[in-house]
Amino acid sequence: MKLWGGRFQKETDRLVEDFHSSISFDQRLYKQDIRGSIAHARMLGKIGVLTQEEADTIIAGLQDILKDIEAGQVEFEIGAEDIHMNIEKLLTARVGEVGKKLHTARSRNDQVALDTRLFVKEEIQEICQLILKLQEVILNLSEAHLETVMPGYTHLQKAQPITFAHHLMAYFQMLQRDYERFQDCLKRADVMPLGSGALAGTTFPLDRQMVAEELGFAKITLNSLDGVSDRDYIIELASAASILMMHFSRLCEEIILWSSDEFRFIDLDDAYSTGSSIMPQKKNPDVAELIRGKTGRVYGHLMGLLTMMKSLPLAYNKDMQEDKEALFDTVDTVKKCLMTITPMLQTMKVNKERMAAGAKGGFTNATDVADYLAKKGVPFREAHAIVGRLVLKCVQEGRVLEDLTLEEYKYFSPVFAEDIYTAISIQECVSKRNVPGGPAKEAVLASIDAGKKWLEKNKQ
Ligand code: ARG
Repeated sequence: MKLWGGRFQKETDRLVEDFHSSISFDQRLYKQDIRGSIAHARMLGKIGVLTQEEADTIIAGLQDILKDIEAGQVEFEIGAEDIHMNIEKLLTARVGEVGKKLHTARSRNDQVALDTRLFVKEEIQEICQLILKLQEVILNLSEAHLETVMPGYTHLQKAQPITFAHHLMAYFQMLQRDYERFQDCLKRADVMPLGSGALAGTTFPLDRQMVAEELGFAKITLNSLDGVSDRDYIIELASAASILMMHFSRLCEEIILWSSDEFRFIDLDDAYSTGSSIMPQKKNPDVAELIRGKTGRVYGHLMGLLTMMKSLPLAYNKDMQEDKEALFDTVDTVKKCLMTITPMLQTMKVNKERMAAGAKGGFTNATDVADYLAKKGVPFREAHAIVGRLVLKCVQEGRVLEDLTLEEYKYFSPVFAEDIYTAISIQECVSKRNVPGGPAKEAVLASIDAGKKWLEKNKQ
């Protein structure tokens, strides 16, 4: 008989049984579920709802079940619906009648909220540790490429020269925000819902604070309806995960471009590339492509969760059982992507010569010619027009700005002098951009330094 079978006169339809059962996926919450049940039983023992002996028997039984599950010795039942009732059933089978007392002053509604909050808290910590590892790799790479000049782009057209370190450190900043977003989401997940009951709390004088402390929660929920019907913490996690994946998709897109024959800025390690079944010469950036592709999957979970929660009346609705697969797949995908992208970056070879050659083409120093004139008093808008005409001349004659003679420069503006050539050398164009946050070596070193301090502060 079902744990809730008292008021029913018929068995559940076989298809429905399978349809509404969540044990195939929510068994993943067994640890959290047992931890929560142990804390609940201990508290019931303390407030006298269970005798000390009863509480001890239940706790020992739950600990045994945990061991057996970890040893792969437990078979869950579809008929017992979900992880909560499976464990309760297993408990009663082991410890007898007293097992039936565990669910006093509790509902699966507050139980599932507790389990997913515990799960979200643990997973966020793991994701954050992986983000820090990736940031460390980025810092090391940046330190090695402080002077590796490359073209910076807008519209994927060469724009101004920067360094590879500067480009990489942009991703450090993104990851720092990602980390902070996950940590922020953690604050809202860190609230203990047990005691909300099905929706209206309970008539038993629970010590909710005690449960929160045992389970390591910072606070308890303050409204029982919200306690069982809030899934913001899952949506926030999916949202932070989506933004992180968006960053990854941009980085991976660049890695794919950079490893193309047209760019050849980087060479991915063989261990992070794959071949073609027909074209013997191929070495494809599949890992980067797959991460780019998985971004869609994580966005999908965010949209799925938001839509699943849309318009649900308070409090719990069974729709919410749909949160789990999205949650699990989101954290699995994000962690796998983090674990792969980190060594892929660490092992790639950087082709400095190609980057430097790229920085020289495409008139990346044109702004510097305009700045040169502006520094000598020509209004910038006018300087812009003069350099525009110079660039046009070069384009028409197949030349670059460095090739023009001083005479030719002077024809466009008498302000030009011999020092124009040093002012527009690519090295100079980078080293002059020494504004805080700029690509000059000292500025990037300062951002690396700040990054290191930030990492130190956040590492456990
Ligand atoms: N398996 C359910 C879920 O994941 C647990 C809560 C069920 N509560 C209920 N009243 N049916 O949401």
